[in-house]
Amino acid sequence: MSSKPAKPSATSKNISSLLQEKRVFPPPSEFSARAHLKSMAGYRKLWKESVTRPESFWGKQARQELQWQRPFKKVLQWKEPFARWFVGGQLNVSANCLDRWLGTATANKAALIWEGEPATDGKPGEERVLTYAQLHREVCRFANVLKRQGIGRGDRVLLYLPMIPEAAIAMLACTRIGAVHSVVFGGFSAQSVADRIQDSGARLVVTADGGYRRGAVVPLKKNVDEALVLQGPDGERLAKSVEKVVVVRRCGNEVHMAEGRDLWWHRELEYVTPVCPAARMDSEAPLFILYTSGSTGKPKGILHSTAGYLLGAKLTSKYVFDLRDEDVYWCTADVGWVTGHSYIVYGPLANGATAVMYEGAPNWPEADRFWRIIEKYRVSILYTAPTAIRAFMKWGDEWPKKHDLSSLRLLGSVGEPINPEAWMWYHSVIGGGRCPIVDTWWQTETGSIMISPLPGVTPTKPGTATLPFFGILPEVVDDQGRRVPKGSGGKLVVRKPWPSMLRGIWGDPKRFKEVYWSEVKGSYFTGDGCRCDEDGYFWIVGRIDDVLNVAGHRIGTAEIESALVSHPSVAEAAVVGRPDELKGQALVCFVTLKSGQKASADLKNTLRNHIGKEIGPVAKPDEIRFAEALPKTRSGKIMRRLLKQVASGVEIRGDTTTLEDLSVLAKLSAAED
Ligand code: WT7
Repeated sequence: MSSKPAKPSATSKNISSLLQEKRVFPPPSEFSARAHLKSMAGYRKLWKESVTRPESFWGKQARQELQWQRPFKKVLQWKEPFARWFVGGQLNVSANCLDRWLGTATANKAALIWEGEPATDGKPGEERVLTYAQLHREVCRFANVLKRQGIGRGDRVLLYLPMIPEAAIAMLACTRIGAVHSVVFGGFSAQSVADRIQDSGARLVVTADGGYRRGAVVPLKKNVDEALVLQGPDGERLAKSVEKVVVVRRCGNEVHMAEGRDLWWHRELEYVTPVCPAARMDSEAPLFILYTSGSTGKPKGILHSTAGYLLGAKLTSKYVFDLRDEDVYWCTADVGWVTGHSYIVYGPLANGATAVMYEGAPNWPEADRFWRIIEKYRVSILYTAPTAIRAFMKWGDEWPKKHDLSSLRLLGSVGEPINPEAWMWYHSVIGGGRCPIVDTWWQTETGSIMISPLPGVTPTKPGTATLPFFGILPEVVDDQGRRVPKGSGGKLVVRKPWPSMLRGIWGDPKRFKEVYWSEVKGSYFTGDGCRCDEDGYFWIVGRIDDVLNVAGHRIGTAEIESALVSHPSVAEAAVVGRPDELKGQALVCFVTLKSGQKASADLKNTLRNHIGKEIGPVAKPDEIRFAEALPKTRSGKIMRRLLKQVASGVEIRGDTTTLEDLSVLAKLSAAED
């Protein structure tokens, strides 16, 4: 591989000329000198070993990295597609994240540095620092609160919280007593909360009176109240499994507290002690459920289990982020997504690292929030998403330039392919040309990072997640499952099981097999398209199923279509993505109306709000277009490919509410049938 040292550039102006050169960025030598792994040869050797003898590799790592209450007997029991890792072993996740640091210097080190959203009157946000010892105490206390409410092993607990320390505390408290948490992102609606309670059978909900977002209060408790009375088609309450709701006082806004059902977090703490032994959990005990969108139906409850997940989160945090004692590490995701689970909570804490947690938006009250926080806490590792990076580029270089970002030493990207322009900007304007970038590819299902450069080791190229992590064997294949030649596109699959892989879809083993293990024989199917270059680097192209990636959020077109047709005015709906400069993809809905209904701007608004109510504000479409009819094949399938073209290609001018006659297009391309 040819590599030219990259000269740092100070502005975004010369980025396009830099990109022309198709450079390779060798790892900075002062970085390599201190990295956990020193050389590409070292990486290749260890990777080769790890995939040739995976059981010996993973067994060794599991013994080395995790603290066991009982050692495991067998590394892997594999009966495709069901894996059992570290069979016979027992351990506790919260003990591995917290107790193991007590009695060491790490006990009095910051585990979480929390920064609240600044107040509307311009006052700075609150800040709270929890050392490992303090976090341990809070987790034990809340674990006792859960126990006092009769929650124990295997019980599901739904968490619907803002980005406050209580979110991490509640997650860890669940793991302490063997309860299974299911975190629901605060941007989802009451309906989504109700659906997830119904599917998971959660007995207890932890929420807050509200959360701050751009100066406004998100009424989380009110949404929960609504969720608890929603009914399904059979007239039964969806959330009937819920017995108790614990409410964190965050905003101080007025909320309704139902007698006998709703409890204040701070009050409940008065009844408990800070002593709570960590439950001995089997390696394969369910750890958490996290709902994510698929190409059909309602979101799937992705199930992760104890030992394998923790090992994946810990090991990747250590190597991909090169975590060191003195680092201040900041992952800007929300704990409602898997990134927040693995790389705000479990990965960093299992490594004894200091993690920053920020409650608010990147541009509130001003576009320099992130840079202010980096300067304030001397953040050394920043992990964020391409959609945010593109927004920062648009807001202008002057915002980061106002701040001292010299503490940064490593930058990470996750959630969608990062376009080379954004990569270069991140590298030069934020990283000052000196910080390696780790473009990390993974999924809710994979539990931890699968493909990524190792900083200080892997030469990087803008736009590729580069090479697989240890023990991971990804391949790009054709429809028959054969590996395609270098340079050709195909489906991205993973050939061998790995410890942090999903164990199933909650309550639906059949769907688990169908979605992930039927597309390509003997392999895990990712749903992504990919290409491998001459150096074996993986270039992820994006989803090839009916899942969209809007601003790093995964959204199933089927869910939005079903929300649309549940509105009385709508006859049919088709939802597609179109390329968007900032969000990666934008969401475009084509809608036909029932007879007697008139297309209008008002109706568009109504439909947008309807989707907000059915799924949540995160799913509100960018565009709704009314059509006379939807283009269909002779067998009645909606021609999405065509709609995608219409959505991306046609400029909409003038009165956008007039009906489009797309049936014409259908006639033109009937050959597709
Ligand atoms: C999908 C998974 C993994 C945490 C965040 C999203 C896309 C993710 C990358 C990347 C290209 C990426 C894929 C994947 N994706 N990271 N570095 N390069 N694409 O988790 O919601 O489960 O979404 O995000 O399409 O399948 P998720």
